[in-house]
Amino acid sequence: MQSMLLVLVVILEVRGSAAIYWLGLSANGSSVGWNQTHHCKLLDGLAPDQLQVCRRNLELMHSIVHAAKITKTACQTTFKDMRWNCSSIESAPRFTPDLAKGTRESAFVFAFAAAVVSHSIARACASGELPSCTCAPAPAEQAAPDFRWGGCGDNIGYGLQMGSAFSDAPMKNRRSGPHAFRLMHLHNNAVGRQVLADAVETKCKCHGVSGSCSVKTCWKGLHDIGHIAEDLKAKYLSATKVIHRVVGTRRQLVPKEMDVRPVREAELVYLVSSPDYCTSNSNLGSYGTQDRECNKTSSGSDGCGLMCCGRGYNAYTERVVERCHCKYHWCCYVTCKHCERTVERYVCK
Ligand SMILES: *[C@@H]1O[C@H](CO)[C@@H](O)[C@H](O)[C@H]1NC(C)=O
Ligand SMILES: *[C@@H]1O[C@H](CO)[C@@H](O)[C@H](O)[C@H]1NC(C)=O
Ligand SMILES: *[C@@H]1O[C@H](CO)[C@@H](O)[C@H](O)[C@H]1NC(C)=O
Ligand SMILES: *[C@@H]1O[C@H](CO)[C@@H](O)[C@H](O)[C@H]1NC(C)=O
Repeated sequence: MQSMLLVLVVILEVRGSAAIYWLGLSANGSSVGWNQTHHCKLLDGLAPDQLQVCRRNLELMHSIVHAAKITKTACQTTFKDMRWNCSSIESAPRFTPDLAKGTRESAFVFAFAAAVVSHSIARACASGELPSCTCAPAPAEQAAPDFRWGGCGDNIGYGLQMGSAFSDAPMKNRRSGPHAFRLMHLHNNAVGRQVLADAVETKCKCHGVSGSCSVKTCWKGLHDIGHIAEDLKAKYLSATKVIHRVVGTRRQLVPKEMDVRPVREAELVYLVSSPDYCTSNSNLGSYGTQDRECNKTSSGSDGCGLMCCGRGYNAYTERVVERCHCKYHWCCYVTCKHCERTVERYVCK
């Protein structure tokens, strides 16, 4: 009985993360031509419902492979100062429980991956890599007197449309996991895309006699991925735990604590509480923070107090060689000396 239950739990967990199997395409996706429909099945990285999107839109797959790479590296950069540092994303398409269950961490990764897919497609349109789209149409709002719309804007509309077709496809299928998890992932994907849609800035280029900037051409462009990751990290830190409950005639997600209010459109939600990631526990997908580097003077999440969970830390010194006493020689080179310096480093016990 117990082993049957375990098998069931494993199946549900595995299916729960099927929608982000494609992050595994970062490893070998670039070696595929993506110009024949059988390429979609080649790498075993797509959920069944994404195969159809792939076959019908082969030209998008280069952008999706690119998005997989960016998602992995940017997630780890953004979380490098936290106990959970996103390193487990490297094991895609096989996920450890920190990402395979409906945790706060999986909420971030789903939302971020959904944003990056749309970002990647919107940019690819603007750079002319996709036959199915072009630069964004000129914005509806009036141009100011000192500039006119022109240039080539990221095609955010097309990015959002095709990005959601790809990212959300598995959750539209009953067989891809329990209803609660599908609702959670769909919601978080939409939050990711909303953050993307809000991350738009007007970029301009100057023209006119010798750079006088008497004429400006402007277009709408997306912020870079790092900016979007930081926005979503803030939402990760304030994410809301939800439960699956009958509301009216349907089962919905509602906040666990004060379930009088509905889930807000802008908040990330999760169903399963995470461990504190202090100690190693493979059943929970926690690597623990032993041997992680920490910052002795920081009072934030990278400080030795929080990072080492009160276990204390070991200090060691390291010699680093740097360029120093640099001199500029007319004309045109720089010479430097090499200086050695010792730096103190701290790692968690
Ligand atoms: C990528 O290809 C290598 C070598 O062919 C293989 O060992 C590895 O398992 C593949 N990775 C994925 C995620 O498919
Ligand atoms: C697919 O692309 C590869 C190179 O990327 C090319 O050699 C091959 O001819 C293409 N096949 C088709 C059917 O277009
Ligand atoms: C992330 O955590 C893992 C496990 O503790 C560690 O091995 C890895 O070096 C960490 N990565 C970074 C960038 O700190
Ligand atoms: C450690 O934290 C302090 C305070 O937040 C910061 O000024 C310093 O640059 C950090 N040191 C390193 C090595 O990151």
